[in-house]
Amino acid sequence: MHSFDVLIIGSGLAGMTLALHLAETRRVALVTKRSLLEGSSSWAQGGIAAVLDTDDSVEDHIGDTLIAGAGLCNPDTTRFIVENSKSAIDWLISLGVPFTRDADSEVSSYRGFHLTREGGHSHRRIIHAADATGAAVTSTLGQKIKAHPNISLFEHHLAIDLITARRLGLKGKRCFGAYVLDKHTDKVITLSAAHTVLATGGAGKVYLYTTNPDTATGDGIAMGWRAGCRVGNMEFIQFHPTCLYHPHAKSFLISEAVRGEGGILRLPDGTRFMTAHDERAELAPRDVVARAIDFEMKKHGLDCVYLDISYKPESFIREHFPTIHAHCLSLGIDICKEPIPVVPAAHYTCGGLITDLQGRTDVESLYAVGEVSCTGLHGANRLASNSLLECMVIGRAAASAILASGPTLIPSIPDWDNSRVTDPDEEVVISHNWDELRRCMWDYVGIVRTTKRLERALHLIELLRTEITEYYRHFHVSNDLIELRNLVDTAALIVRSAMQRHESRGLHFSRDYPDLLPEAEETILAGRADHVPIA
Ligand code: FAD
Ligand code: SIN
Repeated sequence: MHSFDVLIIGSGLAGMTLALHLAETRRVALVTKRSLLEGSSSWAQGGIAAVLDTDDSVEDHIGDTLIAGAGLCNPDTTRFIVENSKSAIDWLISLGVPFTRDADSEVSSYRGFHLTREGGHSHRRIIHAADATGAAVTSTLGQKIKAHPNISLFEHHLAIDLITARRLGLKGKRCFGAYVLDKHTDKVITLSAAHTVLATGGAGKVYLYTTNPDTATGDGIAMGWRAGCRVGNMEFIQFHPTCLYHPHAKSFLISEAVRGEGGILRLPDGTRFMTAHDERAELAPRDVVARAIDFEMKKHGLDCVYLDISYKPESFIREHFPTIHAHCLSLGIDICKEPIPVVPAAHYTCGGLITDLQGRTDVESLYAVGEVSCTGLHGANRLASNSLLECMVIGRAAASAILASGPTLIPSIPDWDNSRVTDPDEEVVISHNWDELRRCMWDYVGIVRTTKRLERALHLIELLRTEITEYYRHFHVSNDLIELRNLVDTAALIVRSAMQRHESRGLHFSRDYPDLLPEAEETILAGRADHVPIA
């Protein structure tokens, strides 16, 4: 057993922010299931929303967030995060993140850095590093993490489940750490800590088509829910309107900043269609644009639509979108000369483990920060580039809460018991169920939903869940089995939440309930009460 002051599970922007804010005075374990920089944070393109320009205001950023959130954002959370946006960016600048400098004094800027625009924003307020903001941020923070003597980094370590009071046969709802699979040795180790933080990101991989990296399997949501945390608003899965459509491209995003800088959505014959759907056209919030594309694709029987920025000067395109330009070119698409084929794909999990403004969950000494959480910022639809901001502001607030808390006594914790399991007999069960689950979610729980499709999905998911639970009880754990178990729990939470909402709001659109109810209410599911014992 290894013991730490704080155990952080997940090394995206949320986890790294926390680790760096704690490490001066606390011994921190940072556990991550692949290498340090793998995760959605490193893939972020557009940038980080913050009130930076003198023409912009906190009230306007809050207003834009609330409009996108379709009545479900928590106004206090939104204010807290937006008010702290500038200091979060100043912190990144002080660490040396190489944001793009402003080459054109005509447009808005902050301390000499360029600000871009994205859908739903009434101002230019997105600070960015060309079209690869996430990589610039995480590589800068990653260097500090690696160099810090108080941070023990556990790469290729996968958290399996939280160690709760209940699991140890004790009273109360408390967390003492986690059981973690060391992928180098295939052994399960025990990491105990006075405070445990879930910073495991979202669950895009629950869908067949997603912009997310392979790490986004809903692990933290499922672990937290199994430990007794409530989950909120899981039906609100954001589909990004523009994922590259190409047989050899896996999950490659075409940033919203392309539309922010003038990109136009067209049908194959060149017709611009967004103006017929919303007066904000290409810059309407994502739910509106994704639904419009879905509508046009179904109406015309299309495999994709097209995003056209080719009318802009080549130098402008290369300067603003070097990564997208190079990636498309490697696939034979020259975005300076031709439109880009795009389709919507699952992008962001707006719901998650319910927390307060300092990341506290329902389980004592367990925190959740970043995409895994539901703080109330995103409501029924996240405003573009508010996610990285939330990771940093709540990450720092959670660190303050942890630093302010008193000592905790850790009880004796038994080692992981694998005496009753054997080697798996048929690995094909796992790969088959992965595919079946993701296809089921794409077909039945997508952009447009019906009650019948949701019922079908739940039926199938429960069958898969029974099979996966059986498998988990009888065989040695593996990376794929653990992720699949989490995916199926997360999928069930999404579908059960969607079935509870009898209206269409934000990202949840139901053909059976197309109207908006007058009162906006969150969907809250209780944490799992009966903890299935591990093998
Ligand atoms: P992540 O960055 O996903 O990190 C999660 C970490 O947890 C990873 O290290 C992962 O390996 C680890 N992990 C997961 N499960 C386990 C486990 N069981 N055990 C151990 N480790 C585990 N948002 C913006 O605000 N602006 C943007 O421009 C933007 N662009 C985006 C572009 C793309 C292509 C994508 C996919 C998302 C984008 N987003 C953007 C959303 C944003 O990137 C994410 O919401 C945000 O990075 C989430 O950060 P996080 O720290 O919560 O999770
Ligand atoms: C993008 O660059 O389009 C992604 C921005 C986001 O998800 O916030």
